[in-house]
Amino acid sequence: MPLAPLSYESHRLVILDQTRLPQEAAQIELRDLAAVVEAICALRVRGAPLIGTAAAFGVCVALRGCGSLAEARARAPAALGALRASRPTAVNLFWALERMERALAGLREPGWFAALEGEALAIQRETEAQDAALIEHGLALLVPGARAITHCNTGPLATGALGTALGVLIAGHRRLGGLHVYADETRPRWQGALLTTWELANHGVPHTLIADGAAAALMRRGGIHSVWVGADRIAANGDTANKIGTYGLALAARAHGIPCYVAAPTTTVDLSLPDGAGIPIEEREAGEVAAPRGMAVAPPGTAVWNPAFDVTPAALISAIVTERGVHRPSAPGGPYDLRRELGRAPG
Ligand code: MRU
Repeated sequence: MPLAPLSYESHRLVILDQTRLPQEAAQIELRDLAAVVEAICALRVRGAPLIGTAAAFGVCVALRGCGSLAEARARAPAALGALRASRPTAVNLFWALERMERALAGLREPGWFAALEGEALAIQRETEAQDAALIEHGLALLVPGARAITHCNTGPLATGALGTALGVLIAGHRRLGGLHVYADETRPRWQGALLTTWELANHGVPHTLIADGAAAALMRRGGIHSVWVGADRIAANGDTANKIGTYGLALAARAHGIPCYVAAPTTTVDLSLPDGAGIPIEEREAGEVAAPRGMAVAPPGTAVWNPAFDVTPAALISAIVTERGVHRPSAPGGPYDLRRELGRAPG
């Protein structure tokens, strides 16, 4: 059984360092706020839902030395600010921190720290329940023997539970049988090659690794049933930010008449944004592209643009699967009305 990507026991936050997979399954303890922020920025802990959970426990780590609730409240804004500044795109991070901030405002002496930890644990448990429920809904979109393409990593490593898009495919292998998953390598950080193939192998799912640029040719060859991706932030109209390369994959799927499904918990939906234009897109350092994993692949000084995410227009997304069900556009190829379907007020 692989090690948990994140665990919190006896007031200690321990993660599996995902930058060392699959060569080494190394656990590290995040002992202070700076270590938590560094782990999120460096993708040691990653995937939208798991970033949210890590940040929630990060608040506990940051405030555990406080001698009183008053001291914790005085120190909280700096901790929350540092965590919020770690990665801008995955809305789960901001959602989880807002919950922790609200919990902190309602705490009482004595027992405030246990109650704060309780809130982070609740976030972790809710994520587990959301994955389980969305997988059940997603399975209805698969068929036995389906050949599916996925991008980046959306398995247990990305959520700390069963996973989202990859969770559906892993469950599909077990429950429907005959599945074959094609994993995009996912440049520039190679989450597909390093993490998704590792998870598929751990779960005994037949799979093939492809270069990102091979996906369209694979679709053209025929026999691909569907494309499955996760999300870092979904706007109210269904526009979806996910790992860079998702947009191109969705365009290719549309050109070949293949459905493209997004699977994500509702904590990834940002109803305050009417569409994807307002989603902040993280841009990362040039070295990830020019010298991936320390190997120079471009002349020194080459100009690089390195967005970590792109936005796939809702029109290219056949369905969005959340723990609440399978959401479809208001009309085929049109926008989604997630404000109505998810029943939450804007903002
Ligand atoms: O930069 P990463 O590895 O955190 O990006 C992860 C993704 O883009 C995932 O597809 C997304 O967070 C969904 S994880 C269930």
